[in-house]
Amino acid sequence: MQISPLNRGFVGEVSGIDISVPLSLDQVAAIEAGMDQYGVLVFRDQKLTDEQQCAYSRNFGELEATLIGQMSKPSERRLGPVEMGDISNLGPDGKLRGRDDNRRMYALGNRLWHADASFRATGAIYSLLSARVVPGHGGNTEFADMRAAYDALDPATKVLIEDLVTEHSIAFSRAELGFDDYGEGNADKIRPVRHSLVRTHPVTGRKSLYLSAHIGTILGWPMPEARAFIRDLTEHATQPRFRHAHQWQVNDLVMWDNRTTMHRARRYRDLEEVRDLRRTTIRGIGMTTAQVPAMAAE
Ligand code: OGA
Ligand code: MN
Repeated sequence: MQISPLNRGFVGEVSGIDISVPLSLDQVAAIEAGMDQYGVLVFRDQKLTDEQQCAYSRNFGELEATLIGQMSKPSERRLGPVEMGDISNLGPDGKLRGRDDNRRMYALGNRLWHADASFRATGAIYSLLSARVVPGHGGNTEFADMRAAYDALDPATKVLIEDLVTEHSIAFSRAELGFDDYGEGNADKIRPVRHSLVRTHPVTGRKSLYLSAHIGTILGWPMPEARAFIRDLTEHATQPRFRHAHQWQVNDLVMWDNRTTMHRARRYRDLEEVRDLRRTTIRGIGMTTAQVPAMAAE
């Protein structure tokens, strides 16, 4: 297995491995080491079934259910297990979703820079996205390196943010786009959780900015001041010099570390062209900071 750098050392392209079959411990360790070094790894020509994607993903930890899967009735789901994230524009009937479709509007939140599952107290480690059908135009996924963004901050800002704690909720990112229709019985899933704004990678010891569209405030700050500040930091952290655009080909698998990178989806003609990607997510271990007891969404 080889990894060649694609973009300023934070995206690597992996070759010489077939991830559809069981891997050796050495292969898994090499991929984890690559993730620690890069943050985003691209595997081309990996034709995977959902079962193979889940099996490959489980090498790296426990699978996390997607929130939309947990909030949907089984009849509203196109794919089987809630661990299989449906990152497509298709409904349970296999047809393109309509313009006013609730699930489509919810999914538009992916167009904002975010880290997956930062609205959960434990966050997520890796996300793995496999491309089954890609549109003819648009629909890239962009990534930004939160370690390089942290390193480039001026010393005074580093001191200011060192111990800040943010609150994250899916409701904050969706409210940004004017979406608030979560359906009945889901109030417990939108309660804010807390995270440190600066996190330290458990293996490399590198610091990174833990930013996400799910952030709604900073503890102890007036909300407007917090949001204006988070916007500034996000603008800094997503400058082109920290960024990479992935242009999808069928059978690409891209995995990223949500602790060290942010990402966003780019627009495509989703009312006309099919885009069918499948996501698995590795559940986080431990919390970045203490929660309000009995308040945090799980
Ligand atoms: C995701 C996501 C971006 C995209 O799957 O978590 O944000 O380009 N996807 O679909
Ligand atoms: Mn995402």
